Amino acid sequence: MRIKSPAQLVADSGADLEGHGLRRTMGLFQLVCFGVGAIVGTGIFVGLSDSVSEAGPAVVVSFALAAITCVFTAFSFAELGSAIPVSGSSYSFAYATLGERTAFLVGWCLLLEYGVSASAVAVGWGQYLNELLHSLTGLSLPAALSAPPGDGGVVNIPAVVVMVLAALLLARGVRESARATAVMAVVKIAILVLFCAIAFTAYTSDNLSPFSPHHLAGITSGASLAFFSYIGFDAITTAGEEVKNPRRNIPLAIMICIGVVTLLYCLVALAAIGAMSADDVADRPAALSLIVNDVTGSTVGGGVIAFGALVAIASVVLAVMYGQTRILLSMSRDGLVPRVFERVSPKTSTPVAGTWIVAATFAVPAAVVPLDVVMNLTTIGTLAVMAVVNVAVIALRRRYPDTETRFRVPFHPVTPALGVACCLYLMWGTGRATWLQFSVFLLAGAVVYALYGRRNSRLAAGPRQAGTEPKPLVDA
Ligand code: ALA
Repeated sequence: MRIKSPAQLVADSGADLEGHGLRRTMGLFQLVCFGVGAIVGTGIFVGLSDSVSEAGPAVVVSFALAAITCVFTAFSFAELGSAIPVSGSSYSFAYATLGERTAFLVGWCLLLEYGVSASAVAVGWGQYLNELLHSLTGLSLPAALSAPPGDGGVVNIPAVVVMVLAALLLARGVRESARATAVMAVVKIAILVLFCAIAFTAYTSDNLSPFSPHHLAGITSGASLAFFSYIGFDAITTAGEEVKNPRRNIPLAIMICIGVVTLLYCLVALAAIGAMSADDVADRPAALSLIVNDVTGSTVGGGVIAFGALVAIASVVLAVMYGQTRILLSMSRDGLVPRVFERVSPKTSTPVAGTWIVAATFAVPAAVVPLDVVMNLTTIGTLAVMAVVNVAVIALRRRYPDTETRFRVPFHPVTPALGVACCLYLMWGTGRATWLQFSVFLLAGAVVYALYGRRNSRLAAGPRQAGTEPKPLVDA
């Protein structure tokens, strides 16, 4: 089993920093904005109504369950991100603790969490663009050019457009992208707070009963759907090499983000079903805009919410595409994917070629695959990665008991073990078709590793750095 120690991972990235590597430009505030930018998007603006249709008013419980899963896992991310502050996120954590094969499969699943998620989020953006166009001009884009084949169209052009725009920004450099992300993060929080302020004026507690029409099964599938809206907090760890004082700022930013977002989501869900009955919210597109129109008796409020959703979702596309390029950069440094992904432009200090390859590749599912399929695949892939991350933190403590870290998971190993259990519970809630698609995807990953990654691994070729040998996972 090939393992790359935390010291070696940091040393490898440091070597690049002296040459044409990434610059440390992000402080705590930028990092929190980057996190919020990665998290709040299609999930709450588009997916809320799907969760309501499963769970009814108990959708608040579903959101809380998804949040608990994230909190357990966020502790593990915080400890690992602080101990191993490099760009690869869960992929690098798995490489250091569980070995190359697991790391490759984690990297493979991250294509779902970041790449396919960028496609899903871009599709949500297209829907809101149409919604805004409609409220401003009364006109809509033709379905043939704004929906995939499974949803009554041919190709989703708006989704492709937003991905190209995000790639343009990212290729220009992190300073510009981080600034744009900060503005977008503030706008999206303001829009959700505005929504709550309006919707709570029409709050009726009668709307909350019956509270759980589909019982535990409904709450479970509601939680699996709600989980999509939390995905992205771990993107903070992908910025490991561009953050000032990463050992302090990464864990702090993760905890701040998860706290803010959980509070916002639970308030938005409560406000939504309090203002309009769960049956009316269920499965409605652009539900937040509809509720505001209903409460205010005008389409102006709904238009403002639609504009906010557009901004919010665009920043998620930006953040997840950024994360995907940095993960591929780490995997490329290790020889597990082609070297083109590690090429950093000396002019912009960004992986320009990698950014465009990612945008072009994931624009394809954005253009032609239905939203629910890409969303469910993103969710199951992310949960699988998170389960591994929780295992990785236990392995980190066993293998490298002396690793320097500013943050330690409380009640270890109970907390990460509960994290694994929560991830498996939500994975179970995604349904049979998603499991089948995910199994095929994993199998393909194993084949790619056997045929490419294993043979091109630099760790296999090069000597191990002295003094970085890990301790065994299980004592002999
Ligand atoms: N959490 C992200 C969103 O809701 C993926 O769009």
